[in-house]
Amino acid sequence: MNPPSHHHRPRGAGLAYRFNIHREILEHRDRIDLLEISTEDYIVRERRLGADNDLQLLREALAVFPGVAHGLSLSLGTVEGPAPWYLEATNRFLGESGLEIFSEHCAFHSVDGNDLTLFLEMPFAEESVAWLARKYEAVKAALGRPFALENVTYLFPVPHCPLDEATFFRRLCEETDASLLLDVTNLFNNSQNHGYDAGEFLERYPLERVSQIHLAGGFLTEQGLWEDSHSEPVMEPVWDLYEEVIRRTDCEIVILERDSKFHPFDRVLADVDRARDVFWRYRDPAAPAYSPRPSPGSSPQSLRPEGPEFSQLGAFQRALMARITDAGFREAWARNPADAGAMVGLVDATWLRRLVDCDSRSMDRLAKSWKAIGIEDAAIQEQYENNEWAAWADLLSSEELAS
Ligand SMILES: [Fe+2]
Ligand SMILES: [Fe+2]
Repeated sequence: MNPPSHHHRPRGAGLAYRFNIHREILEHRDRIDLLEISTEDYIVRERRLGADNDLQLLREALAVFPGVAHGLSLSLGTVEGPAPWYLEATNRFLGESGLEIFSEHCAFHSVDGNDLTLFLEMPFAEESVAWLARKYEAVKAALGRPFALENVTYLFPVPHCPLDEATFFRRLCEETDASLLLDVTNLFNNSQNHGYDAGEFLERYPLERVSQIHLAGGFLTEQGLWEDSHSEPVMEPVWDLYEEVIRRTDCEIVILERDSKFHPFDRVLADVDRARDVFWRYRDPAAPAYSPRPSPGSSPQSLRPEGPEFSQLGAFQRALMARITDAGFREAWARNPADAGAMVGLVDATWLRRLVDCDSRSMDRLAKSWKAIGIEDAAIQEQYENNEWAAWADLLSSEELAS
């Protein structure tokens, strides 16, 4: 067996890697402890094409920095089996890159092939805990490793649910061995947007399971809501929460997420500096003992999404998605929610009430965004096809020259 690489137990505070800041990251290697690699950038062809096709930049970065992997497209909460392409591509990427530590989101965004690419919060109910636990185990077996579950910024909580968010995560930890990626900015955003106290949340949230932290900066919209844009410096109250979490947990991995406004790069680095200062104030630099290494993974266990215990959660998700993506369903819903719900199997009164009372402004916003995404997708597809054609043309002409 190979000796453990520096990806086996990364520690410290670092940055989410993006290939467009590759040079800046390498130039400041003394100010960044580790990198987080977005698997999406490498397993979704559209993003990979024209960027770092042969993984040369990524290999160079991972030779210098320890790294962890972060997934985006699993939609863990959807009452469907995990997409085989996702498991296959993620497994292949983790093998190719040598990354061992993995995380995904505790949310859902895709139903019946319609992908919002925006996280929706799971209903805080026991059915969700049971489903997430079952799917987590299946994905864990397929990837050959436990992984961390991240809390997301969500537009609205599903109403009339018996659990609160912190208790929901505690229940999930009781049912699985998952560790937690606590996105402190998402916690701040949700506490502000949905009116709860973040400090009080931490009292009930299973801090003992936190293995990773995310920090990011967003902005306040005209409607008074915090947007998780990953484009701004980390907000001051988030720093206070971060220090609190570092002080009260054994978490070893902290990542600053930044997706735009990379320059001046010093401003990005200033947040990494601050995250590192806090981290190392509370941590012993001596390396801890090594933990077990991941196995190659096995075929996923049977999940039985069609089981009666999940039928109403599944129907709720289908009806919610249809309200966003299907104009015909929206009309039927406006006429009579019970009849429309029954069309997709949503028959339980409690689950129907949860969907009837979902925040209607957010639902309208999502329906409008879905339309816009469709238009944008068509443009991206066209660009992708052009790029692919251009890549083939390049290849052919160079082969012609060589022959
Ligand atoms: Fe994330
Ligand atoms: Fe995050």
